[in-house]
Amino acid sequence: MTFTNLCVLGLGYIGLPTASTFATHGMHVVGVDVNPRVVETLQNGGLHIHEPGLRTLVQAALKSGNLSISTEPEEAEAFIIAVPTPFKEGKRADLSYVISASEAIAPYLREGNLVVLESTSPPRTTMDVVAPILERSGLKAGDDFHLAYSPERVLPGQILRELIDNARVIGGIDRASSEAGRDLYATFVRGEIICTTATTAEMVKLMENTYRDVNIAIANEFSRLAARFGVDVWEAIELANRHPRVDILRPGPGVGGHCISVDPWFLVEAAPDLTPLIATSRQVNDDQPQVVVDLLQEALGGLDGKRIAVLGLAYKPDVDDLRESPAVEIACRLAERGAEVIAYEPYKLDAEFPGISMAQSLDAALGGADGLALLVAHTPLRNLAPEEVAAKTKARIAVDAVNGWDPVAWEQAGFRLTRLGVGI
Ligand SMILES: NC(=O)c1ccc[n+]([C@@H]2O[C@H](COP(=O)([O-])OP(=O)(O)OC[C@H]3O[C@@H](n4cnc5c(N)ncnc54)[C@H](O)[C@@H]3O)[C@@H](O)[C@H]2O)c1
Repeated sequence: MTFTNLCVLGLGYIGLPTASTFATHGMHVVGVDVNPRVVETLQNGGLHIHEPGLRTLVQAALKSGNLSISTEPEEAEAFIIAVPTPFKEGKRADLSYVISASEAIAPYLREGNLVVLESTSPPRTTMDVVAPILERSGLKAGDDFHLAYSPERVLPGQILRELIDNARVIGGIDRASSEAGRDLYATFVRGEIICTTATTAEMVKLMENTYRDVNIAIANEFSRLAARFGVDVWEAIELANRHPRVDILRPGPGVGGHCISVDPWFLVEAAPDLTPLIATSRQVNDDQPQVVVDLLQEALGGLDGKRIAVLGLAYKPDVDDLRESPAVEIACRLAERGAEVIAYEPYKLDAEFPGISMAQSLDAALGGADGLALLVAHTPLRNLAPEEVAAKTKARIAVDAVNGWDPVAWEQAGFRLTRLGVGI
């Protein structure tokens, strides 16, 4: 099939780069978002999210006349749904955005169209949730229009390159739908495009993120065992990874972000009887912030009234994303236990959390602190020189939850350094 126009619903981290890339490859694209602030910002030449290179790409797409921004869908040959799929109370998938986007498309659906769901979704969502809503148009999925699921695997920070270069899986509800999806993405994808079924494609995305979550959980459990048995887990992992078929990931303060810490629950919810390992791994990773809080409590001889400089709040190094971040969880728990928390997040100085003061500089966080907690391995925090830190604070107790600091150097500078996963 050939496509000349397209409607993309959801203009966030996934939808906006996707819509703009199609537009700069010659497709006429209407980008739709229900958030009027997003639409207004984009229509005025602004950008509401941060991603390297995105501003230039969006401006080029708008300037070419191929991309327009709207709050309403319109008739098109193809529709892509890239709306959020967070979890709600009880760790259950919140499909309300996928449902409302499908409902918004139905009135504009015509014979021969293609609809692709890109949002990370529980197994069978395309077949059991999206298809019936689109069929309210009077058209039958498979017979009258094509329907497919295509997972997005881009890495924030590298989205524009990975969108084009990554291999892409297209799962159609039938063969013709997979092939239509393949033809659509062939507009710009340089990576391999592999066709499969819709439910396989949904599973692929969930399996990728669950695989990482379970592997991080075992690393976290190893760190607890090492601490108990007087072993340095970082040394032990390095040695174990010399085995040609072993590749243990890094332990840390927990798992965050809106993908890996969320998506495994979609599998647990869909089949609780089949997912004891996945559920337990999620629990292990969710318990990890408390392990760090306990380490700080022990290192400082109690938390009540202690002023703690929390270094880093993001969910992983060198990004500004604080969603589901274990570092935020740790900071909040410290404050609940009576500590005075001064947090320094170099990539998001204006973050706001109840009970936590945000330092506008490293010096402001360090001054007056009783203890330091390194919670994110941001490059500028890992590279801190301990003797320079020592000159800026009276604190001589530090906890490193990410193996970011050299223990010998920090101890030589006068700090008592407690590291996650290191027994005495
Ligand atoms: N961000 C990533 O790195 C990433 C990676 C892989 C997969 N995903 C998945 O992609 C999906 C989208 O994620 P995101 O990060 O782009 O989300 P986002 O929150 O950045 O953007 C989603 C946008 O959709 C809009 N929206 C909500 N309901 C809508 C509707 N009915 N019609 C039109 N617009 C609507 C929102 O206003 C928002 O602007 C999610 O399922 C996510 O899990 C994200």
